[in-house]
Amino acid sequence: MNYTGILTETHERVGLICLNRPQALNALNSTLLEELGQALKAFDHDEAIGCIVITGNDKAFAAGADIKDMAQASAADMLANGHIERFDLIRQIKKPVIAAVSGYCLGGGCEVALACDLIIASETAQFGQPEINIGVIPGAGGTQRLAHAVGKVRAMELVLTGQRISAQQAEAWGMVNRVVSLDRYLDEALELAREIASKAPWAARFAKESVNNAYETLLTEGLASERRLFYLLFATEDQKEGMQAFIEKRPAEWKGK
Ligand code: CAA
Repeated sequence: MNYTGILTETHERVGLICLNRPQALNALNSTLLEELGQALKAFDHDEAIGCIVITGNDKAFAAGADIKDMAQASAADMLANGHIERFDLIRQIKKPVIAAVSGYCLGGGCEVALACDLIIASETAQFGQPEINIGVIPGAGGTQRLAHAVGKVRAMELVLTGQRISAQQAEAWGMVNRVVSLDRYLDEALELAREIASKAPWAARFAKESVNNAYETLLTEGLASERRLFYLLFATEDQKEGMQAFIEKRPAEWKGK
């Protein structure tokens, strides 16, 4: 594909998507979000890919939705153009998605990272929801996912003040998996992705679905759904292979079936 706002690469069973508008600190305009959605879907449908990584560059993961695109829009324009709905695409991806974050991770950029399943941050990463400073609020899941990730009072503080927090603070608050040095964050995310991509594909997919259910359903419903997904895995060849390999004390060979 000839993308203009992103770059894509594959590393063995890992699909890598780089947000690529460095001149605008990777501000998320419609084209970029459209392309991000297309690339995510393409990797999600590709059997050779087991895990996806989204990254930016050392200076910015993304500094938010493109303010210049929205500045003059009316409410009706915003409703009609579907710009913010494009953020929902990440949520529809079935395979695990990791955000490899460095530098500014603000507004819609932070919302993209929070919509991913895991976050690896460089020591220079800064997270925040500064929308309040431009007269709006997070519109792509920030108020909800941030509250889930860090709790109500911390989310309130970030959303009401627009202040940024460091990678170390985000780690202490449980918002990111870990913080590593600037020269390591992408490799660390790719290594983690390679490990996840080496697992039985259906089990990885259902594991993601089931953990997400913990945030989207009541506990009773989540537990029942988890059990159904667990039973369903017994319809896969990989379950037979995985358990047999354990008994025979050898590594499993996954078929994705
Ligand atoms: N939209 C459009 N352009 C942006 C942008 C954004 N969100 N963030 C940065 N840019 C552009 C700047 O306009 C500038 O372009 P020019 O060189 O053409 O002037 C270029 O990127 C570099 O930015 P700065 O000169 O501002 O860089 P800096 O290092 O001085 O500051 C910053 C960096 C603190 C991140 C600052 O750029 C900033 O505050 N950006 C806006 C952050 C923000 O408010 N994000 C929320 C957007 S709204 C949103 O995301 C809604 C939602 O929930 C979906």
